[in-house]
Amino acid sequence: MQQLPLPLPCLFVAWGALPAIPMASPMPSLPPPGEPQILQLLTTKVFHDTTRAADTQGTALLGDVPTHAMDCGTCPIRFHQPWARQGLSPKQWGDLEKAIHLYLALITNTVVTVVQGTGVSFPFVIQILMGCEVLPNGTSHSFYQSVRDRHDLVRFNLATGEWVAAPGDEMAQRVRRSFSQDRGTSSRLRFLLQNTCVAEILSFAYYGKETLKRQERPVAMVFARQPPIASKLPLLLVCRVTGFYPRPIHMTWLRDGEEVPPGPGLNSSGLLPNADLTYQLRIVLAIDLGAGHSYACRVEHSSLGSRGLVVHWGPGGNWGVGLAVGIAISLLAAAGLAAVLWWRRHRYTRPEQRDSMGL
Ligand SMILES: *[C@@H]1O[C@H](CO)[C@@H](O)[C@H](O)[C@H]1NC(C)=O
Ligand SMILES: *[C@@H]1O[C@H](CO)[C@@H](O)[C@H](O)[C@H]1NC(C)=O
Repeated sequence: MQQLPLPLPCLFVAWGALPAIPMASPMPSLPPPGEPQILQLLTTKVFHDTTRAADTQGTALLGDVPTHAMDCGTCPIRFHQPWARQGLSPKQWGDLEKAIHLYLALITNTVVTVVQGTGVSFPFVIQILMGCEVLPNGTSHSFYQSVRDRHDLVRFNLATGEWVAAPGDEMAQRVRRSFSQDRGTSSRLRFLLQNTCVAEILSFAYYGKETLKRQERPVAMVFARQPPIASKLPLLLVCRVTGFYPRPIHMTWLRDGEEVPPGPGLNSSGLLPNADLTYQLRIVLAIDLGAGHSYACRVEHSSLGSRGLVVHWGPGGNWGVGLAVGIAISLLAAAGLAAVLWWRRHRYTRPEQRDSMGL
């Protein structure tokens, strides 16, 4: 196997010379969380060319709650949640920050060194997803994977300590070789993900209890879309629910009090994020007005207790004028909603970027 020159050996020395990475166990007595908790550290690096330093951005999420972030490869850790800093002393955070800066510089140098001659051209984006999950019985598992422009690059097998390259990718092979040669960094990274990360989850779950238990009640609205007038299309009933937290929710359409089973007439928007860390969801039912059924939307969510929420649709037996007015109002509401959604989508791009990483 061809040996690549090690990029910047001094970095390895610096990394290797770091005192033990902090928080092996900052709070040994902290219990495992009551619910499974996952901490994801997302790093994005944009490589412009061989000479310019890569633009780096890092975000940590506990479940869907942003806890801390790093705005550049040499920036300080910035806390999104006051409780996020509580599990460690300022000195320990400082040491961790230094370790992360070295690690980020190492990645930049490795990538810039190995990319030449692989046919990969600038600019490109490398995204790294790493972290760990802790279950209520105290077991945990850790993960590390990376992509270049959405193609798999390398994965770190935490169980064996081996780097695994995406098959058939020359750059991935070279990155793997370079990382594999650096046993010191690999073992420290492993320690970081299997110990430090788990300790962070325990401290976050303990100090951030209130945030993690947050309950926001959904607001439900039912309206009709697409008037059937002069068209053969069925009327679409929309049940839109927004502003709820946490994510798990169960929504169903009731026809004459009976749940409408999944089928071609039933559609869902899928869960969509709002800007305030709440969610929205729409379910759409195509109906045949002539059949004279009654319809209602039922919402079940942890914030609502066991009773849930039922919103009835329609003015009752007489569909005439009431329906037309209802449809006109609903169309206005839908247009307003579309405008709001458009605005949000264009203003708040972060969740989309997260999605686009396939996370
Ligand atoms: C912990 O829980 C997970 C998921 O419920 C299970 O797969 C695993 O075997 C459990 N481990 C132990 C040691 O109980
Ligand atoms: C369901 O909704 C999606 C997205 O709004 C749409 O593309 C699709 O055509 C819908 N399917 C049906 C059967 O209405």
